[in-house]
This record gives sequence, structure tokens and C-alpha cells, in this order.
Amino acid sequence: MGLKNSFLLVRAFDIKIKEKLIGGNMEKIGFIGLGNMGEAILKALIKSGYSTDCIFFCEIKPERAELMERTYKIKHVKDVKKILNKTKYIIIAVKPQDAKKALESISPFIDERHIIISIMTGISISKMLSFSDKKLKIIRAMPNICAKVGNSLTAITANKEIKTEELNEIKKILSTFGYVVEIEEEHMNALTALSGSGPAFVLYFLEAMIDAGVKLGLSRDKSKEISTQVMKGTIEMLEKENLHPTILKEMITSPGGTTIYGLAHLEEKAFKGSVIKAIEEAAKRAGELSI
Ligand SMILES: NC(=O)c1ccc[n+]([C@@H]2O[C@H](COP(=O)([O-])OP(=O)(O)OC[C@H]3O[C@@H](n4cnc5c(N)ncnc54)[C@H](OP(=O)(O)O)[C@@H]3O)[C@@H](O)[C@H]2O)c1
Repeated sequence: MGLKNSFLLVRAFDIKIKEKLIGGNMEKIGFIGLGNMGEAILKALIKSGYSTDCIFFCEIKPERAELMERTYKIKHVKDVKKILNKTKYIIIAVKPQDAKKALESISPFIDERHIIISIMTGISISKMLSFSDKKLKIIRAMPNICAKVGNSLTAITANKEIKTEELNEIKKILSTFGYVVEIEEEHMNALTALSGSGPAFVLYFLEAMIDAGVKLGLSRDKSKEISTQVMKGTIEMLEKENLHPTILKEMITSPGGTTIYGLAHLEEKAFKGSVIKAIEEAAKRAGELSI
């Protein structure tokens, strides 16, 4: 299986990875922009044992910078040149519309040691390269909101300047906040739809289950508790038993029983087709918003 085409999964908080991050020679990391997503990544890095002495950041909003410095005891460095001097990995975590400004500001101070990890949605590697006159080493990473609880699905794609050893190091860093999957850049829009928007689709289904419970007379709290646990239990069983969803579904669907009656209704309403179309639409929109 070729590296590029393989779906390489790195287990979150894998003990060995953790030991390596803590025991190994920690490379310094600099954040450009430390908003919601940057903070989620920062928290996971610290939780995994990354030394706060090895983390620096530059944040444009003074009150935000002050809060982050106070909360995490990390160093705010206003001057990007100083951040570049101190660090190897630069995590760009600003909004996509600030990409040009952020990259242009760091570009003069970048040398062959630096690796840029961009988490900006919809900003292609070629676009990032267009903001600099240097041969940048770039990793485009797309985490999802579950990074906040260390359970992100982070898709990554690297440009050809990144060496295999460097890619492996970056996977270790990114796996502190979830799973890491390597994909081709052309699949980033699909990834944005499946993984970025995915939690909202799952939550929409969960919301429908909760409403169904309420319609059947359960209190909203009880219905939420039950429906959420059903979802968690189903996923855990799928993983632990190493089953395909179709097989697991068939195991539950007995002839003439309750489940097949429910599933038949979903079929009639083209539930599966609607979900496929929803994800297709989200991917199309991701393409429209990409530059
Ligand atoms: N949230 C998610 O679920 C998610 C998932 C995947 C990827 N992403 C991507 O992650 C990136 C960050 O998202 P977010 O939700 O964390 O955004 P955010 O909360 O707005 O954080 C970005 C922070 O960077 C600051 N900033 C802007 N330009 C800067 C510069 N040149 N130097 C230093 N700081 C600068 C912003 O200040 P101002 O507000 O004053 O501009 C803001 O405080 C986005 O590109 C987004 O597409 C987000």
C-alpha cells in the first residue's frame, strides 16, 4: 500500500507515542493565532506531556493572548521573527481569510528547518506557497471539533518538501489530539464534509432520536441519556468486535421484528440517499469555499 493512498491511522494517546513525545528531544512549536482550534490543540499537547517551555504563540488579540498566557503558562511572543527563531513547527491557526497576512508575515524568517502546519480550512498548499517566495515545507491538516476532547479525526497531506521522518514526527504531534489520517490533497473537500461537518450530521441524527423518545413519552433528559448511550455503545461494539456496520445492523435485525419495521420506513423515505446527498453537498460547498 503506497504511503499516499494508505489510510494511516495513528491511535490517539498511544502510550508509545506519549513516551516518545515526553522522552524524546522535544522540538519547539509556535502557534500563529490561538483561537478556539489552536487552544484545543495546545491543550492536547500539554496533556500529552509536551513541555510548556517548548510552546510559543503569537496572537493578534491582546486580551486573548493574555488569557492564553495566564491559563497555560506559555510564552506570548508578539514578534513573529522571534517565534520563528525559537521554533521548528509553526502551526497556523488563523481564520482562512487571514491566511495571506499570516503567511506573508512569517515568510521572510522561514528557513529549511521550519515546517508549517496549517489547519486553515480550504486553503490549498499551492495557495499557501503563493504567499511566499520560498520553498516552504507545508503540512495541510484538517482536524475536526472533537480535537477539543482529544478525539479529532485529523486528515493531513504534505507537500513534497517534507521528508518521511519529518512526516512521522508531525503525525506523532497531531496524534496527541486524536486520529491522524493521511490523504491526497484532492480529497480534502470530501474530508471537510465527512469529518469537519460530520459531527453535525451525527448530532442531527441524535437529535431526531431524542425527539422520537420524547414523542413516545420519555422525558427529554432521559431520552437524551438513552439515545447518547445507544450511540456510544454501538460505536464501541463496532470497534471492539471489528465488524462492518452492515453486519452489525443485520445481527440486530430479526425477521418480522421491530428493527426491520423501522428500517423499512427509513428506506421508504430514502434516508441513506439523503445522507449521501447531504455529504456530497457539503463537499461541493467546501470546494466552492476553497482557494
Ligand atoms: N473550529 C473548527 O472546528 C475547525 C476545524 C478545522 C479547522 N479549523 C480552522 O482552524 C482555524 C482557526 O479556527 P478558530 O475557530 O480557532 O478561529 P479563531 O477562534 O478566530 O482563532 C484565530 C485567532 O487568530 C487570531 N489572528 C488572526 N490573524 C492573526 C495573525 N496574523 N497573527 C496572530 N493571530 C492572528 C484571531 O484574531 P481575530 O479574531 O482578531 O482575527 C483569532 O483570535 C481556521 O482557519 C479554521 O478554518 C477550525
